[in-house]
Amino acid sequence: MESAEKGGYPHFMLKEIDEQPKALTDTLRPRIKINNNKSSIDFDDIKLDKSWVRSKRIVITACGTAYHAAVIGKYAFEHFARIHTEVDIASEYRYRNPICDKDDIFIVISQSGETADTLAAMRLAKKNGARILAITNTVGSTLSREADLVLYTRAGPEIAVASTKAFTTQMMCIYLLAIQFAYLRSLITEDVYTQYINDLLLIPDDVQKVLDEKEVVQKFAAGNFNKTKVFYMGRLFDYAVSMESALKLKEISYTHSEAFAAGELKHGTIALVDDTTLVVAFAAQQKLFDKIASNIREVTSRGAAALVITYNGVTRFDDICSEVIHVPQTPDVFSPLVSIVPAQLFAYYCSIQRGIDPDKPRNLAKSVTVE
Ligand code: AGP
Repeated sequence: MESAEKGGYPHFMLKEIDEQPKALTDTLRPRIKINNNKSSIDFDDIKLDKSWVRSKRIVITACGTAYHAAVIGKYAFEHFARIHTEVDIASEYRYRNPICDKDDIFIVISQSGETADTLAAMRLAKKNGARILAITNTVGSTLSREADLVLYTRAGPEIAVASTKAFTTQMMCIYLLAIQFAYLRSLITEDVYTQYINDLLLIPDDVQKVLDEKEVVQKFAAGNFNKTKVFYMGRLFDYAVSMESALKLKEISYTHSEAFAAGELKHGTIALVDDTTLVVAFAAQQKLFDKIASNIREVTSRGAAALVITYNGVTRFDDICSEVIHVPQTPDVFSPLVSIVPAQLFAYYCSIQRGIDPDKPRNLAKSVTVE
């Protein structure tokens, strides 16, 4: 039965990584209307009335991978909708006696909709009068029943403990919300609105192109799965992708890996860099290419091997790193939807190279329903 559900794949995780183009399409397409070359977002499951759109602050909370989608949310809401956005790990939020205003919008992200800390944070915000918007993959979950509005990711069942398609579809929901808030707040013209939406409509195919070349990642993993220290770094959206990449690798290959904002390198982390270190740099924020290039030089000059994940056609990092993995060019703000895929695959291939079952990593559960 189980192998039948795997549809011929060796592991659910690889199947779910491969399902991302469909999951992204299922999450995006039903919410897009196209008339006479004008595109618009029409959420079939939530109604954003004026009081929501006029909010002055958004707080996003979650755990684990969902928290990394929340960090993307901060950058996205402030970039598109110019709304002050705070993010908080749910287990921290629930105990820090947070300041919460009744006009706040409280976005809660959870694949399972059952994570204990996330539910507790939501209930605290609700008690303080905030309006709750849930992004979840599980219909009928506790979160979906207690939130005021629910935006479903339509990723389908995610069986592997390590979250992949739930993460990319959570980000897709976040981008749709941020763009819709920008439009409803009259911050963007109809043409720009259409352009953003049309850019998102190209993403599933871009992800498919990365998946079609997964053997490039598999080969790199074959030569690097035994690294004992892997650092991921990036700036802005690439920093959030670094966080998720580090979690993927640690939870299924048991490799010590961590993420840091590339600009933080000289504030301590660089002391750990030596010739046993692999550093993965995300370079998808074009206005900061010079900055990330100097960060790469800083680590390679201390003996680290460096992998750069950047756009097709970008050659400026070729001479300063050991390996470059290229992904299709997207607008920088949407690049996490694509650049995370090589990192998911790298974690998966390292895990199986180490003889670990990536679907059932030690000590971990798919949903952490207790503290
Ligand atoms: C991610 O790969 C992990 N399985 C874990 O961090 C997970 O994202 C976290 O426990 C939150 O789960 P949720 O989205 O169901 O709330």
